[in-house]
Amino acid sequence: LSACGGEGDDSASDSGMNLVSEGTLTVCSDIPYVPFEYEENGEYVGFDMDLIKEIASGMDLNLEVKDSGFDGLQSGTVLAAGQCDLIASAMTITEERQERMAFSDPYYDSLQSILVPEGSDITGIEDLAGRNLGVQQGTTGEAYAREQAPDAKISSFQSDGELFPALQSGQVEAVLQDLPVNLEHTRDGEFTIAAKFETDESYGFAMSKTGSEELVSAVNEQLAALRDNGKYQEIYDKYFTE
Ligand code: ARG
Repeated sequence: LSACGGEGDDSASDSGMNLVSEGTLTVCSDIPYVPFEYEENGEYVGFDMDLIKEIASGMDLNLEVKDSGFDGLQSGTVLAAGQCDLIASAMTITEERQERMAFSDPYYDSLQSILVPEGSDITGIEDLAGRNLGVQQGTTGEAYAREQAPDAKISSFQSDGELFPALQSGQVEAVLQDLPVNLEHTRDGEFTIAAKFETDESYGFAMSKTGSEELVSAVNEQLAALRDNGKYQEIYDKYFTE
């Protein structure tokens, strides 16, 4: 691969990838979003974080992860501002987002769900009319709720870290978001999944729409290698198998 000469960029080392910071893959993620990205012992871990660590090291790059709000990530603002090279944030590949960002190959399949306290009378989307429903701002879960439960009283939270506490305190009666994240909260038996929706979502790593062709193909190459050498499965089992 040859460097394709970004203005003022004399370094051949990142072979035309025009990284925000030379020699480093700078990644933005909205943390916490368990089990995809969260902090443990002062380190960012989770399915996305472990994958992106492998991808960066496979590309001989250092990794820097920046915590940034999801709405700014999905709107493309953070990428456009040159704050990071790539978004690893359990982000669903949607047609709308593809208009402003380039995505890697899909790396995880997901669906939507409603989380409620055990014993709740909410058992389906139709029961949400007039009820307090929590979602995370800018997510596909929010879009689904606004379309499918227009009569719910929807509260949109900036961070997923505020959503579950709102359900615990009774501020909202249900949370609509990605199933694997809601499932994390069913473990102690106090909360349960009231409904699942086959929304056919796939997560991808997002990159700038212009000038990132080399980065996108390098990331896809690394992803394919991780699937081939069993590392993808190892990371999957670490976070999704009991
Ligand atoms: N998959 C959903 C979406 O793309 C939610 C992602 C939220 N991610 C996060 N790290 N908070 O809209």
